Amino acid sequence: MSVTVHGGVSPAPARHDPAEQDVPQQASTGLRGVELTLGYHGVQVVASASIRMLNGHVTALVGPNGSGKSTVLRALARLHRPDSGQIVLGDGSSALDLTAKDFARRVTLLAQSRPTPNGICVRDVVEYGRHPYRGRWRREDPEGAAAVAWAMEVTGVDGMAERGVDELSGGELQRVWLATSLAQRTDVLLLDEPTTFLDLRYQIEILDLIRDLADEHKVAVGVVLHDLNQAATVSDHVALLHKGEVQAAGAPAEVFTGPLLSKVYGLRIDVHPDPQTGHVSTKPVGRHTHRLRDAALDTDVH
Ligand SMILES: Nc1ncnc2c1ncn2[C@@H]1O[C@H](COP(=O)(O)OP(=O)(O)OP(=O)(O)O)[C@@H](O)[C@H]1O
Ligand SMILES: [Mg+2]
Repeated sequence: MSVTVHGGVSPAPARHDPAEQDVPQQASTGLRGVELTLGYHGVQVVASASIRMLNGHVTALVGPNGSGKSTVLRALARLHRPDSGQIVLGDGSSALDLTAKDFARRVTLLAQSRPTPNGICVRDVVEYGRHPYRGRWRREDPEGAAAVAWAMEVTGVDGMAERGVDELSGGELQRVWLATSLAQRTDVLLLDEPTTFLDLRYQIEILDLIRDLADEHKVAVGVVLHDLNQAATVSDHVALLHKGEVQAAGAPAEVFTGPLLSKVYGLRIDVHPDPQTGHVSTKPVGRHTHRLRDAALDTDVH
């Protein structure tokens, strides 16, 4: 089964802004936030953040708790009104000018926290992802059944279609919400910690799926991840947030340097580049890290 990709793949108009730096010529921007300043109740938490999601690319947002990742993603998904800055789609239109339904056909967000509805089965929740394609009076949605079936299959929730969502485990529920976002079949997919609660197999399957959506269907994926190694492996581009600012953005190997990561996270993080692939892996070093080695030394001594 395949994903239908909707609009938004025409090149962005030529203009200079920080979110467009280093855009490969052949790639077009699915969505970009330009100099976004965001806050809550008058308190600024994100300052002039620029970020862009290219079609066919995975962009990872990383950074410590409270650095502003969810706030940025929610602003890009129009769930948080910016104090200043712009949100621009690939065809140059401002996200804030579209109707809610038009926007929902182009951009979806799997939010970090959601209330769990009571008394609703898994299939009904996933079908909710089709809401932008349904009229107020008409219920026709010719592609709906296939989209829902595909989304449930790739997230592995098809076997629990009739179960109530209020009786699922955290990981099962996470996959149901992901299926709901996928059923929406948007050109831009924003995912806030999609691997939280998932066991290892589903973490890797979701990352594989994200990669396939970008590679095969040219979806622009923006994903918040806490696991820096997963971010380095799955993404083409990383934005590292710290205290509400984009500290660095670029290819994972450029952004993930030991000194920068150690400063941002406030802990020693060693970075190991693989000379053959160019990929980097990161290793946080805590007081416990030497425990096994010290235990081995102890054994040698006695
Ligand atoms: N509803 C809210 N009202 C007031 N302040 C908020 C609200 N939501 C978030 N904040 C504050 O905004 C800042 C950024 O929060 P945000 O949720 O964007 O961080 P994050 O990088 O997603 O963190 P995490 O990794 O913990 O999910 C934090 O200081 C947080 O306390
Ligand atoms: Mg968050």
